[in-house]
Amino acid sequence: MSSPSREQWGSRAGFLFAAIGSAIGLGNIWRFPAVAYENGGGAFLLPYLVALLTAGIPLLVLEYSIGHKYRKSPPAAFRKLSGPAEAIGWWQVAICFVVAAYYAVIIAWAVRYVGYSFGEQWGGDANAFFFGDFLQAAETPGVMSSYVDGVLWPLIAVWVVVLVILALGIRNGIEKANKFFIPLLVLFFGVLVVRALTLDGAAEGLDGLFRPDWSALGDGSVWVAAYGQIFFSLSIGFGIMITYASYLKKRSDVTGTAMVAGFANSAFEILAGIGVFATLGFMAAAQGVGVNEVASSGIGLAFVAFPTVISQMPMGALFGVLFFTSLVLAGLTSLISIVQVVIAAVQDRTGMRRVPAVLGVGGAIALVSILVFPTDSGIYLLDAADHFINQYGIVLAALASLVLVGWLLRRLPAFQEHANDISTMRVGRWWLVCLGIVTPLVLGWMMVDSLRAEFAENYEGYSTEFLLWAGWGVAAGALLVGVVLSLVPWRSADSGLTAEASAETGAKAGPGSATEAGTTTGTKAGTGSGSAAPEGGKN
Ligand code: ALA
Repeated sequence: MSSPSREQWGSRAGFLFAAIGSAIGLGNIWRFPAVAYENGGGAFLLPYLVALLTAGIPLLVLEYSIGHKYRKSPPAAFRKLSGPAEAIGWWQVAICFVVAAYYAVIIAWAVRYVGYSFGEQWGGDANAFFFGDFLQAAETPGVMSSYVDGVLWPLIAVWVVVLVILALGIRNGIEKANKFFIPLLVLFFGVLVVRALTLDGAAEGLDGLFRPDWSALGDGSVWVAAYGQIFFSLSIGFGIMITYASYLKKRSDVTGTAMVAGFANSAFEILAGIGVFATLGFMAAAQGVGVNEVASSGIGLAFVAFPTVISQMPMGALFGVLFFTSLVLAGLTSLISIVQVVIAAVQDRTGMRRVPAVLGVGGAIALVSILVFPTDSGIYLLDAADHFINQYGIVLAALASLVLVGWLLRRLPAFQEHANDISTMRVGRWWLVCLGIVTPLVLGWMMVDSLRAEFAENYEGYSTEFLLWAGWGVAAGALLVGVVLSLVPWRSADSGLTAEASAETGAKAGPGSATEAGTTTGTKAGTGSGSAAPEGGKN
């Protein structure tokens, strides 16, 4: 039985805004510029485009098709494919739980920095201010000894906003929020880029970013970086797109939407690259150094380099407000999508109504986030969890799902047919080749490559003991939770039906069965949020 009361997006544009809102996040603004810069500059755009066309857009089409066909969040959708596969769905849910808990913290920092921008309150040493005065980062990672009020309050505010939007539902909450936040983000960031381009030194900054180093194309790690960036940036492998597509109407153009969402995300990413490097060019010129000396990524870029530039430019306060508000808006729309995966999964499995699910499930993530991260050890925990959950969570779960769907169950042709039946633009054999061969091979290679780096030296020089629980432990814990939850005999509306029978009923029931208002839900592949953190703190 398909859930008769499943919510739906109000319009195709509503879904598109939500998908783009999920994709455009912290990863676009602070990760892409640095990844492109470090991996061949202008020449990086070639592997990046190849990754977008061979992995990004094909995976979007697959995830939209799974969500649309089964009208379920990842655990229930994978279960309809094959019983044991439910574990992959719950694994993605556990990953989203972890990511949401720390992603909210970075948004909270940005909220605080919108306020600090007015008086440029970080003073002359933005590095010391961020890690010392603001975060009060401990000397030893992993030892929590105090709460940091300056992070705690904005974090509570972020969670209240996110949970209220989620409680309002798909159409009245998520769709409306994205339709408001995304144009506002484009406006704010557009003004920021125009301002950045008029700064002295902007041209040198752009030259630093885009000057092609063609020899980089021969380096395998550059291609791995391109796939990692596309993967993270498009929000694929989290189960988000399966969840969002489960609220689509029966006739929904999934291939066209994937193209638009994929290219819109990349366009914003390149815009972010231009804005960030034009600004860094100004900073380099002001300090009389090369762009290479000021280029940074992740936390170091947003909370150290940008405040430093803001202090040096005329009308810097306005620039700061635009930059940090953009981070908040981009982050909020992604965070909403990540939390929605967990809420939808529990709703699908228990039949819980939306508001209790938001309060119970969303509240639990908020509680963990609020208890763990606004502490003096928060930044280290965030950095380790981010790196390991991305490398050995998101990427590995995506690889597992492709091996399952493509190789073990051989269901790619069925999803190709499904996508083609409902879309105006058809996907052909190339789609099967990309998802059946190219992407699994690249992801497998990424895995080997990152494991090799992991064993060559401890991530960020952290102690093995700390990495064992805060990194490996978190990633392995998510997998374990996924397996355990898949073994729970859930009391769910569709539990008595066979996989395919249920799916077909769901597909046929289509939009007619859904009520209109609805009553129910610095690493290679990471957010890149962490890469500069601890060094920044210690430097
Ligand atoms: N895709 C989101 C980001 O770029 C998660 O931050």
